[in-house]
Amino acid sequence: MSMTSTAPPIQIEQLTYAVDGRPILDSVGLTVQQGEIFAVMGRSGTGKTTLLRLIMGLARPTSGQIRVNGVDITGLPERDLDELRKDMGMVFQSAALFDSLTVGENVAFPLVEHRRLPESDLAERVSDLLEMVDMAGTEPLMPAQLSGGMRKRVAVARALALEPHIILYDEPTAGLDPISATASDELIRRLRDTTGVTSVIVSHDVQSLRRVSDRAAVLHNGRFLVVGPMAEFAASQDPAVVQFLSGSPEGPMSGPYQPD
Ligand SMILES: Nc1ncnc2c1ncn2[C@@H]1O[C@H](COP(=O)(O)OP(=O)(O)O)[C@@H](O)[C@H]1O
Ligand SMILES: [Mg+2]
Repeated sequence: MSMTSTAPPIQIEQLTYAVDGRPILDSVGLTVQQGEIFAVMGRSGTGKTTLLRLIMGLARPTSGQIRVNGVDITGLPERDLDELRKDMGMVFQSAALFDSLTVGENVAFPLVEHRRLPESDLAERVSDLLEMVDMAGTEPLMPAQLSGGMRKRVAVARALALEPHIILYDEPTAGLDPISATASDELIRRLRDTTGVTSVIVSHDVQSLRRVSDRAAVLHNGRFLVVGPMAEFAASQDPAVVQFLSGSPEGPMSGPYQPD
């Protein structure tokens, strides 16, 4: 496996993912630059989570290419994928914490799996990770004792445990109150600013993505309608983009999925 340090962290070309012959993603292309916060937005069921699963190698494309750190992951054996996945932290929509483990044990989990650290170093690393997400000192708590926003922060700390160069967030603000959502946006930006991590967010939270993303794409009927800084989206004449940004119930996004 060769890795080119100059290659963009994520490069997707003509990616198609079809379920029962129906293209969820239809020949999409995307390059995410080093240290960028890139957002993919779209309505529920448009294929946002599927895109993240494809980038993680948890799903295989029907056709097309996905390069992570310059390595084409399509067709890569599971063993090599495992190795590459250590460089990608995933924050699942549900946070996906282990309910029977403490917060500290949750964050330690990838370190115990993949690194041999003395107990004291492990504890220190976990403490640092929790501090990074403003959850210092919460090691002994159980996930059930935390609010939704706190659970997501713990999930972020766990995703950062192996110091990945890429982090993928699935609907980071879903289910959060507006203040927690703003705090989540600030955290995502701060982590990028302090660690240089390349971040991909999938979400339908337009307000949040305006604050947090450097560039964004609108996913509709398997395609990206626009790609660029969200400030430029207002100029788009595409009725679907206009509808999505305004949240109007009337428009091309309202109908059922229509493959073309
Ligand atoms: N492995 C799969 N089997 C069947 N349907 C799938 C599979 N993966 C994704 N889908 C379908 O793809 C569509 C997009 O799903 P998803 O990526 O979860 O959308 P989003 O995250 O944007 O809400 C949905 O209609 C979903 O049912
Ligand atoms: Mg989803």
